[in-house]
Amino acid sequence: MEKINAVITGVGGYVPEDVLTNDDIAKMVDTSDEWIMTRVGIKERRILREEGKGTSFMGICAVNELLKKTGVDAETVEAVICATTTPDYHFPTTASIIAYNTGCKNAFTFDVQGACAGFLYALETASNYIRSGRYKRIIVVAGDKMTAITDYTDRNTCPLFGDGCGAVMVEPTTENYGVMDTILRTNGIGLEHLIMKAGGSAYPPSHETVDRREHFVYQDGRYVFKHAVSDMADVAAEVVARNGLTNDDITWVVPHQANLRIIDATAKRLGVRDDQVMINIQKYGNTSAGTIPLCLWEWESKLKKGDNLILAAFGAGFTWGSIYVKWGYDGKEA
Ligand code: UT7
Repeated sequence: MEKINAVITGVGGYVPEDVLTNDDIAKMVDTSDEWIMTRVGIKERRILREEGKGTSFMGICAVNELLKKTGVDAETVEAVICATTTPDYHFPTTASIIAYNTGCKNAFTFDVQGACAGFLYALETASNYIRSGRYKRIIVVAGDKMTAITDYTDRNTCPLFGDGCGAVMVEPTTENYGVMDTILRTNGIGLEHLIMKAGGSAYPPSHETVDRREHFVYQDGRYVFKHAVSDMADVAAEVVARNGLTNDDITWVVPHQANLRIIDATAKRLGVRDDQVMINIQKYGNTSAGTIPLCLWEWESKLKKGDNLILAAFGAGFTWGSIYVKWGYDGKEA
């Protein structure tokens, strides 16, 4: 039997229209455009303001665009996997809401919680369903409404995050393209350093947890930075080396967009030039699971069949990983 590869056959995306600039943030906390640009590299981020709209709203927009661009009949989609840390509700899943509202009525659905590495976890999961030969068409939708869990009185975290979602179609091919290799890692040492402390089963919501502002992202930035900067670069270098690639073979590095200094360190480690790295952190900030598919969405028209992409991410948990993708189609200008 011929080997079945899992290949990305389309990309959709959505970011809200409302822009929150560094100057807007400097009116809320003691910070400046200069600090945020030099320490993180973010100029502005998008924010989903309307009450009652959660991550599913952005996921639905991204999936609708994906279905339109690929011409796929929603009823032929067999699974919708949603990677998010900011589900609309604890339950039911955000994937079920997205599938219902995009006409994917024959799909089974579930959420994946892999924090900022969530897209990589979900893409690898979808790819294995496809490689099994049993499934032919799966949507991975990934993104977060990070502003829903951002404390706009905390200058350590509030400049970092934005809202957005991307979606990809994953299908089988017997050609030598697609998701070629994956390394995923977890180290629970990260727990106390990047966490939303309350609202789960350990510390259910109470007046006290609200008063202690424990329903927002808490991050020990310096500790997380130290791990992110080495672990993300190490795992990307490991994927590159074990697939016999050199820096010239890499068409694009597609890094998680948490901090420009972490992206630069990963690029340096791989020995690639700046023009081989997808960077849009200045416009969208850290959309958690959304950053990598939103890069693919933005660069899709420039991608060519056979391009070698190295995806890499690091997030809460800690969870991190890298995926080597051989791109499966020529992009077209919209
Ligand atoms: O996506 C999931 C994974 N997350 C990451 O990868 C994020 C990793 N961490 C980071 O990107 C960086 O640690 C941050 C961007 C969060 C912070 O940058 P940093 O260079 O590590 O700053 P720091 O936390 O060490 O703080 C340096 C100084 C402190 O002042 P002192 O103690 O030196 O007087 C902070 O109080 O900068 C201060 N500071 C700020 N000043 C102005 C912290 N936030 C701000 C701010 N504006 N917004």
